[in-house]
Amino acid sequence: MKKTRVAWLPGDGVGKEVLEAARIVLDAAGFEADYIHGDIGWEFWRKEGDGLPQRTIDLLRNVDCALFGAVTSKPVKAAEGELVPELRGKGLVYRSPIVKMRQLFDLYISHRPCKAYHGNPLNYRSGIDLVIFRENTEDLYAGVEFGPVPEKLAATLRELSKPFAPFAALPPDAYAISCKINTRRGCERIIRAAFEFARKNGRRKVTVVHKANVVRATDGLFLDAAKEIARDFPEIQMDDANIDAMTMWLLKNPLNYDVLVAPNLYGDIVSDLCAQMVGGLGFGASGNIGDTLAVFEPTHGSAPKYAGQYKVNPIAAILAAKMMLEWLGQNEKAKRIEDAVAAVIEEGRVRTYDMGGSSKTLEMAEAIAEKTAVAV
Ligand code: IPM
Ligand code: MG
Repeated sequence: MKKTRVAWLPGDGVGKEVLEAARIVLDAAGFEADYIHGDIGWEFWRKEGDGLPQRTIDLLRNVDCALFGAVTSKPVKAAEGELVPELRGKGLVYRSPIVKMRQLFDLYISHRPCKAYHGNPLNYRSGIDLVIFRENTEDLYAGVEFGPVPEKLAATLRELSKPFAPFAALPPDAYAISCKINTRRGCERIIRAAFEFARKNGRRKVTVVHKANVVRATDGLFLDAAKEIARDFPEIQMDDANIDAMTMWLLKNPLNYDVLVAPNLYGDIVSDLCAQMVGGLGFGASGNIGDTLAVFEPTHGSAPKYAGQYKVNPIAAILAAKMMLEWLGQNEKAKRIEDAVAAVIEEGRVRTYDMGGSSKTLEMAEAIAEKTAVAV
């Protein structure tokens, strides 16, 4: 059988440490793969003006899937200031490599499970078991932005949009425009993915997160698409909520929710909230999934202040590795990893600083690896 090819993208900050931890557990699970290193992150932005170099894009075209650690992101001006002097002033614009990867490879599903593992001292409530499906390529992440605003665009808006009137006389550099672009296809496929997941996993409800009462065109499209698709899944209840109210209700009654589906930005917001309810970003794993490629990652960032200390909790990265195995159809190995994570959390002997303990990143990995391997 052909060996699975996994692009190994540690990135920077704590990304390297948590992927090292994930690898220990993947090995303990007996997963055999060719791991191929890919350059990604801040170092390559600074030195080459590109956080996702072409060679890494080529690599991604030739693998089955990828595991990604984290990369530092900074606002455009700060990023430009960190380029090597030869590259400054050339009009290079920093874009988050992970966002670029999602768009380039059409990884339209962001799948983010948030489960309160029994005995985790950081759980907000026990029994929380939420799964977020976040649209991952369009919406306010489309990257269609203007600041200053070109006169041509302003003229068109003056002509076509009544609500543009209060902005119509502004000079170009007195405002900025970011376009929220949502396609019918983009809405439909993420919503379908959420419902299909619910069906396959015996989930009872899908909640559609939006702001259709105000953002009528794009979120209206999303909500309408959801209502239509829900008809194909009569056994699954559908409800919907505005993003603002959703954050309150999630805090008030997290057990009332099951699968959530949202456009890109609301999905980004709600997934940090849900991750925090089950222990914080040290527990948030996600899959960026397309039709032919999937990239798995812990949702925490690169946490530069902890970089090199081997201190952060690797569970998110380990759960990302577990999701990768599931996607590859290696369910038995994935289950062993998840059971091992659950057992280590429940025992409470090995805890990283965020959990109130003093265990280091690799001690946590070893503890999980030991239990993952035991059952082989
Ligand atoms: C996430 C992150 C990214 C996002 C950042 C790092 C660009 O917050 O994966 O949720 O906004 O999507
Ligand atoms: Mg986020």
